[in-house]
Amino acid sequence: MKFATSIAAIAGLTTVVSARPAPRTWKRQNDAVVSEPGADAIDNSAIPYAAVGPVGAQGNIYGSEALLGSAGDSAKATEVGPGEEDADLGLYLDMTSTPNPQPIRGDSGATDPGPRNLPIDRQNPDALARPGTDMGSIPNAKWPMGLSSARPGTGGGQPGWARQENTDQLPVATAMAGVDMRLGPNAYRELHWHSANEWSYILSGSVRIAAVNQNGQSFVDDLQAGDLWFFPAGVPHSIQATDEGVEFLLVFNQGDFSEDGTDLVSELFARNPLEILAKNFQTDVSTFKNIPKDQRYIFNGSPDNTTLEEARKAVTGPAGPLPANESYSYHLSAQDPYTVPGGSVKIVDPSTFPIANNFSMALFTIGPGAMREIHWHLTFDEWNFFLQGNARVTVFSGPQASRTFDFQEGDVGYVPVASSRYVENVGTTPVVYMEVLQAPRYIDISAAQWLGLTPSHVVKDTLNVPQAFIDTLPKTKRYIVPGNTNLTTTNFTVASYPNAALSATSGSS
Ligand SMILES: *[C@@H]1O[C@H](CO)[C@@H](O)[C@H](O)[C@H]1NC(C)=O
Ligand SMILES: *[C@@H]1O[C@H](CO)[C@@H](O)[C@H](O)[C@H]1NC(C)=O
Ligand SMILES: *[C@@H]1O[C@H](CO)[C@@H](O)[C@H](O)[C@H]1NC(C)=O
Ligand SMILES: *[C@@H]1O[C@H](CO)[C@@H](O)[C@H](O)[C@H]1NC(C)=O
Ligand SMILES: *[C@@H]1O[C@H](CO)[C@@H](O)[C@H](O)[C@H]1NC(C)=O
Repeated sequence: MKFATSIAAIAGLTTVVSARPAPRTWKRQNDAVVSEPGADAIDNSAIPYAAVGPVGAQGNIYGSEALLGSAGDSAKATEVGPGEEDADLGLYLDMTSTPNPQPIRGDSGATDPGPRNLPIDRQNPDALARPGTDMGSIPNAKWPMGLSSARPGTGGGQPGWARQENTDQLPVATAMAGVDMRLGPNAYRELHWHSANEWSYILSGSVRIAAVNQNGQSFVDDLQAGDLWFFPAGVPHSIQATDEGVEFLLVFNQGDFSEDGTDLVSELFARNPLEILAKNFQTDVSTFKNIPKDQRYIFNGSPDNTTLEEARKAVTGPAGPLPANESYSYHLSAQDPYTVPGGSVKIVDPSTFPIANNFSMALFTIGPGAMREIHWHLTFDEWNFFLQGNARVTVFSGPQASRTFDFQEGDVGYVPVASSRYVENVGTTPVVYMEVLQAPRYIDISAAQWLGLTPSHVVKDTLNVPQAFIDTLPKTKRYIVPGNTNLTTTNFTVASYPNAALSATSGSS
């Protein structure tokens, strides 16, 4: 097999290269074989290429001189995947079931004889055979959570785990960091606080959260999949899964935030003198004889059998509960989406969730073939998480750079300020993903609306496009544009595909 020949040739070449500077003299190679402790060092200078190896060693460490000068085998893979397409047209190349996908688009690129990681190549066709329009240097914008180490909880009984994305994984993501956390039935994320603001979206299951603010106002709420919470920096809080367990996403407003660096109540107790604890809490030191010696982090708990009303009542002090306009939760699961041709969106920002005063989020659902239109967010970075589906994104950064990425369920994305991007659904199921901004409002500029509201002769003179096209540019913001599940489609003119008429109506209303 040519593939194997090629590997062998490369390995052979490497050995020859490393053989060149090898010293001809060396000391004892293996005490276990030469034995006799205290024996004189052996001078092997007269015995070239005869290393003393351990029992069971076979073959020669070096190859023969006949190998010098080999340039390796220029093996060519026989199977060539899809890639005859016009590189600048940049159609999505679906390589999910291509046996031997290749870094080829039309005339550009060449085969890859290996070694290679085929599942990664198949998941990232726009990295393997990028569109001809990609150019220059754009920082990496993709981090699969599946590549982050999942830190397990403590105490056994499968209490849960957490894994994170921060600037260690994705250096460009300086304004926000993310954590994916799972709590088993009734398990806790230990009582804690931290230096960053914490925003959360519940992916599945349900949870009870509680917190106390600087005024002594208390807060307890029950949340389910699709809901949000927010804890300002420094506000101590607790999180307990219900008996169905929970998984949630956390976003912090510091790119280098580490989930391992939070301030835990167990550590607060373990790191202060017991006498101080006794004085502080006005008790006898014996009270603390069984406190945890180590942090608990994520651990199993007993079921909370109280109703929400009972729980709230039990923790309300003289300052009362947190006022509604400062609530730490938002029941986004109950918000109706805003639907447009091609998909829908739910937007939440400080105008409806005021305590999260710098977190703005849009949760998009994009139908197969449809696309989140080309846009940018004025002065804000964007943090993404893909909850479902397969999408591709081209990040364009002026003056001349662009790079295309492919995203799957569980991937984090990050687009720095000012760069434009689209999100195209390239799969057969809906793409669900979120855009999170550090911004007081969810705001964006739509490229189509911009040109639709620019004097038409300016657009025409600049881009050299027909007047008939300029007449179709929208004056409203579409957010999403419909498309076709046949990804070789190149004509998206109104009426040329299902739902296009709706799009025209929305664009000119
Ligand atoms: C809650 O109910 C369960 C089942 O009835 C019981 O085992 C548990 O002890 C109760 N927990 C509390 C805190 O009362
Ligand atoms: C909530 O309302 C109170 C009273 O009107 C006001 O002082 C406070 O600033 C508001 N909080 C937020 C986060 O808007
Ligand atoms: C919001 O976040 C941005 C980006 O991190 C920051 O520049 C800005 O100061 C923040 N605003 C507030 C009110 O925290
Ligand atoms: C997809 O569209 C192309 C033309 O754009 C057509 O040739 C092809 O047959 C279509 N494929 C399917 C599966 O409909
Ligand atoms: C694109 O589709 C429209 C609507 O079906 C049609 O009128 C137009 O001729 C097509 N354009 C091309 C270049 O085929």
